[in-house]
Amino acid sequence: MRKFRVNSQLVKSHKGDCLPAPIPIITPKAYMPPVLSHAIVEELAGLGAIVHTCSRNEDELNCCLGDWMTKGFQVTESVCDVSAQLQRKDLMETVSSVFSGKLNILINNAGTNIRKPTIEYTAEEFSTIITTNFESAFHLSQLAYPLLKSSGKGSVVFISSVAGLVALGIGTASAACKGAINQLTRDLACEWAKDNIRTNAVAPWYIKTSLVEHVLKNKELLEKITYRTPLQRPGEPKEVSSLVAFLCLPASSYITGQVIPVDGGLTVNGFYPIL
Ligand SMILES: NC(=O)c1ccc[n+]([C@@H]2O[C@H](COP(=O)([O-])OP(=O)(O)OC[C@H]3O[C@@H](n4cnc5c(N)ncnc54)[C@H](OP(=O)(O)O)[C@@H]3O)[C@@H](O)[C@H]2O)c1
Repeated sequence: MRKFRVNSQLVKSHKGDCLPAPIPIITPKAYMPPVLSHAIVEELAGLGAIVHTCSRNEDELNCCLGDWMTKGFQVTESVCDVSAQLQRKDLMETVSSVFSGKLNILINNAGTNIRKPTIEYTAEEFSTIITTNFESAFHLSQLAYPLLKSSGKGSVVFISSVAGLVALGIGTASAACKGAINQLTRDLACEWAKDNIRTNAVAPWYIKTSLVEHVLKNKELLEKITYRTPLQRPGEPKEVSSLVAFLCLPASSYITGQVIPVDGGLTVNGFYPIL
């Protein structure tokens, strides 16, 4: 079991690994797990990080905060709709003030989806998906840049999707956003490397969260997912959050610009029969 010592700059383990602190995480969450953001907050806070998270729902946030406090986690929060430009600015001003202008980690996790054939998207639905899934991540990264740079060692992790790598038929608007995020990951890795800021993305396949609960409850769809996935099951939130944490640790200090699938082997399976 690793033990972490916290001082003003670093959270260190006795093995010499270190997790820079303070470590805000700019990611929406919801009241009860399973949501990825909840697992990510707990993963990082469990490693000794100081986390700032956000959600649109104040009551749910407060419930989570109470729970995290009893677990001894250092988490603060903002109510924020990340699809709204002004709220994003307010959020980052709060973050700057809470962490004295220095940020080690930014996690862009907010996401939504509307599953329907491409020609059926209304302009409003398209706009909701683009602003929530892509514009928010782009703008929050812009706003976070000076803070990440000031910290001297920054890490940005985007929560993408395998839908940004292969065609899945789950909604082209969201999939296109994830594809854009993947390229943003690569470009920022090169643009911001001079500032010692790494950028990576994790690309999950089906993970048991409220976003896809209705899909996984459908026996026929679940069977298809299981049949197509080499590891023959959907993933757990913890299986994504552990990779996110790794990408924030010095153990990953030479990894940048990568989009890493967390998909039970889905994206490497050409036509291998799974019996
Ligand atoms: N679960 C999967 O199978 C899967 C697969 C691939 C990729 N992903 C990606 O993983 C990320 C997290 O998804 P999840 O599975 O945890 O989904 P989820 O259970 O629906 O949670 C999505 C989170 O995004 C937040 N959110 C959505 N719109 C927001 C907005 N405008 N402002 C602030 N927060 C907003 C919600 O927070 P509030 O409602 O509390 O505001 C919620 O906590 C998403 O980017 C998603 O695309 C998930």
